[in-house]
Amino acid sequence: MGKGLFITGTGTDIGKTYVTALLAKKLKDSGLSVGYYKAALSGADSIKNSDAGYVKQIAGLEEDDELLLSYLYKNAVSPHLAARWEGRPIDKEVIQEGYKKVAARYDYVLMEGSGGIVCPIRIDDTQDLYLTDLIKMLELSVLIVAEAGLGTINAVVTTVAYARSLGIEVKGVILNHWLGNPMEVDNALMITKMAGVPIAAKVSQGATELSADIEVLKAMFE
Ligand SMILES: Nc1ncnc2c1ncn2[C@@H]1O[C@H](COP(=O)(O)OP(=O)(O)OP(=O)(O)O)[C@@H](O)[C@H]1O
Ligand SMILES: [Mg+2]
Repeated sequence: MGKGLFITGTGTDIGKTYVTALLAKKLKDSGLSVGYYKAALSGADSIKNSDAGYVKQIAGLEEDDELLLSYLYKNAVSPHLAARWEGRPIDKEVIQEGYKKVAARYDYVLMEGSGGIVCPIRIDDTQDLYLTDLIKMLELSVLIVAEAGLGTINAVVTTVAYARSLGIEVKGVILNHWLGNPMEVDNALMITKMAGVPIAAKVSQGATELSADIEVLKAMFE
């Protein structure tokens, strides 16, 4: 089985897919075997036009489309609500199998979350299932994608505290939309000091490569 890393963020639309694509590309360009997996995605009409299709294309992954994603919903709402509206509840065994299939084929697997660390996956008469339950079920550690700018200290420190309160290990943070101004430089220092997690990389607007130490990136996978 390959090693995995779960990519979460401080919120939806923060750049998880964008950063995951660059991370996958960096690992692949270094000669490593890389796979991608997303449990549930809402707001797309096909895998090709989804987060999964984007990462596959940018990173040049050879993975079959069906392996990239287990549940695709049209409505752009939280997975638990899209699943309810569209009558296709998420089954955690399917997620376990879906992840395992990818991990059996690739040495490094990037699993992208939906939304931020707090995300309902299935809420009905039979069960309450949250994103964090999936992370724990798959025994993954997380990488947090966050904004580089104003507000990020609060967002990252609370995300890290929440993950840790559930026994989930945080391996690092990637700051997106990085400009490198004095406030952002201080944000990076404060996050490291207050949350005790390293900044693994900084990604600027329109970046086409991830500038980071490959050994540092590889060490985040477990
Ligand atoms: N560094 C960047 N440079 C240019 N565009 C970016 C950058 N980061 C994110 N974007 C763009 O911002 C939008 C949101 O990013 P993205 O889809 O990666 O977010 P996400 O966290 O994966 O969202 P979701 O919660 O829907 O999965 C996309 O259009 C993406 O291309
Ligand atoms: Mg995404």
